[in-house]
Amino acid sequence: MSGFPGKGAMRVAPSLLAADFSKLAEEVAGVERAGAEVLHLDVMDGRFVPNISFGPGVVADLRPHSRMYFDTHLMIEEPGRYAEAFAQAGADLITFHIEATNAPEEVVAEIRRLGKSVGVSLNPATEVSAIEPILEKVDLVLVMSVRPGFGGQSFMPEVLPKVRWLRGKLGDHQRLEIDGGIDVETIDHVVRAGADTIVAGSAVFGTEDHAAAYAMLSTRARQVAEEVMP
Ligand code: DX5
Ligand code: ZN
Repeated sequence: MSGFPGKGAMRVAPSLLAADFSKLAEEVAGVERAGAEVLHLDVMDGRFVPNISFGPGVVADLRPHSRMYFDTHLMIEEPGRYAEAFAQAGADLITFHIEATNAPEEVVAEIRRLGKSVGVSLNPATEVSAIEPILEKVDLVLVMSVRPGFGGQSFMPEVLPKVRWLRGKLGDHQRLEIDGGIDVETIDHVVRAGADTIVAGSAVFGTEDHAAAYAMLSTRARQVAEEVMP
């Protein structure tokens, strides 16, 4: 896969964190059949966040099972050190946290060297000024709408001004992603604020019918986007 699917159009990215880890390939195939083109992969190291999820081995094992765009969200310290392992595992986009490094430009350069798209993420408490110096250098900005580390938390509406500000700054070739607490209700607010890439973990994999849940979120996101930009 080369570029992000959809060229600026709304995309809902199911987050595998909420899936049943005993049958990952099946879970991935289910959302892909439902029409998902982007899979959000949450990598946690137990240091940057107080939880451990999975590493590059799981990404590599899933790669041959899916044609989806692998949106890899690194919630880890020393992201530059591990970028190559995720690139080799088959990540298409590698997103690192601005709070996890003192040398963001070097991390961006390393991910570019590996031939992958680059995203930068910021925690709810982090101001957008922290990423401003590298804004033009990234393909995607990921705004966290919960404190990273766990799925199933409540959406934090106080991050919406950051989404609005970023929408005004980012170019057409850049994506604006939001992650945490998105469901059929909160999705309206994030789309209205300007997000075009919506992560949904428990609202997809935590439901009885993943395909129906994905379809509902995706349809709703497109409807709201059309209302905002007719
Ligand atoms: C949180 C992760 C999220 C998480 C979202 O640290 O980055 O991607 O899976 O889960 P929900 O949608 O359940 O809030
Ligand atoms: Zn995430």
